[in-house]
Amino acid sequence: MREVSRVERDSRIYVAGHTGLIGSALVRRLKKEGYTNLILRTRDQTDLTNKAQVEALFSETRPEYVFLAAARVGGIKANSTRPAEFIYENLMIQTNVIDLAWRYGVKRLMFFGSSCVYPKQAEQPMKEEYLMTGKIEPTNEPFGVAKLAGISMCRAYRAQYGVEFFTVIPANVYGVGDHFNEDAHVVSSLIMKFHRAKLEGHPSVTLWGTGRPRREFLYVDDLAEACLFLMNLKELPPDPINIGRGEDTSVRELAEIIKEITGFTGNIEFDTTRPDGNPRRLLDSSRMHGLGWRAKTPLEEGLKRTYRWYLECVEGQGA
Ligand SMILES: NC(=O)c1ccc[n+]([C@@H]2O[C@H](COP(=O)([O-])OP(=O)(O)OC[C@H]3O[C@@H](n4cnc5c(N)ncnc54)[C@H](OP(=O)(O)O)[C@@H]3O)[C@@H](O)[C@H]2O)c1
Repeated sequence: MREVSRVERDSRIYVAGHTGLIGSALVRRLKKEGYTNLILRTRDQTDLTNKAQVEALFSETRPEYVFLAAARVGGIKANSTRPAEFIYENLMIQTNVIDLAWRYGVKRLMFFGSSCVYPKQAEQPMKEEYLMTGKIEPTNEPFGVAKLAGISMCRAYRAQYGVEFFTVIPANVYGVGDHFNEDAHVVSSLIMKFHRAKLEGHPSVTLWGTGRPRREFLYVDDLAEACLFLMNLKELPPDPINIGRGEDTSVRELAEIIKEITGFTGNIEFDTTRPDGNPRRLLDSSRMHGLGWRAKTPLEEGLKRTYRWYLECVEGQGA
């Protein structure tokens, strides 16, 4: 295997998508560890769906390492109402960045996959070798197919050109910098619901389904730490590689913790006429654990930090 030197503190590191949940955590971590030469461009400066703009960025800045955390991301509603945009934009962003990274001699590139690319009926916990062995969830098929193409593209460029391009597949990520809007992820939408119910004095909060489905939640700063660890490995990391905590939590348990943290004193009710989705989605993170990395932030601690940040930055109330 071709060896790559560890990332130097002054290496040119491009974080694509640095304003997003994961990209902003990568930037925080890189800065904290003393990396000084970060390449960061907003969408207005470089629209990654536009190849000429991406080429201008690479020729001007010559990145040595790339975290490809830019993507068109959204929940079921956005995916089902704008499926063409999801497949087009994701294919364009990743195709442009991966191809130009090869053309401009990038030493190592990390592409962000998603756990939704695993087959809907995959055995649990999901091992990397289960990818592309069955049909994916139909509600996010255009997004998932684009992600599968990105995984395959990294693999193909590696096989043909010998470059160190690989994919990470994180569990559900939450934390500081998350989106608190109508298309929010489960953690941020529960935080908003319980916080607002407390302020408005509601007697109860109603959640969809039975509360029994189990999901895996990874604090965003743990993910950023894992990504830097992989970027710095002497040998190319296993590809693809799952990054999770190795533990799942039921929606009911999650809701109980968030209720406690937000200080809501009413009841939690479950509308069992609504669908539950898959009973369990847990990544098998043995590859990552085998390399010696484990997530450090307990769920409750990560949720407390996220709620504090939500109060300060989203609601503007101070903790
Ligand atoms: N969050 C999760 O739970 C999770 C789990 C597994 C995998 N992932 C994957 O990790 C990656 C990052 O996710 P995230 O949650 O951090 O997403 P996010 O918060 O929505 O951030 C996406 C980033 O991509 C940028 N972007 C989108 N379209 C662009 C374009 N045309 N040109 C330039 N920049 C563009 C956004 O810029 P703007 O600020 O201008 O929109 C933003 O900086 C995605 O590939 C996602 O599928 C996420």
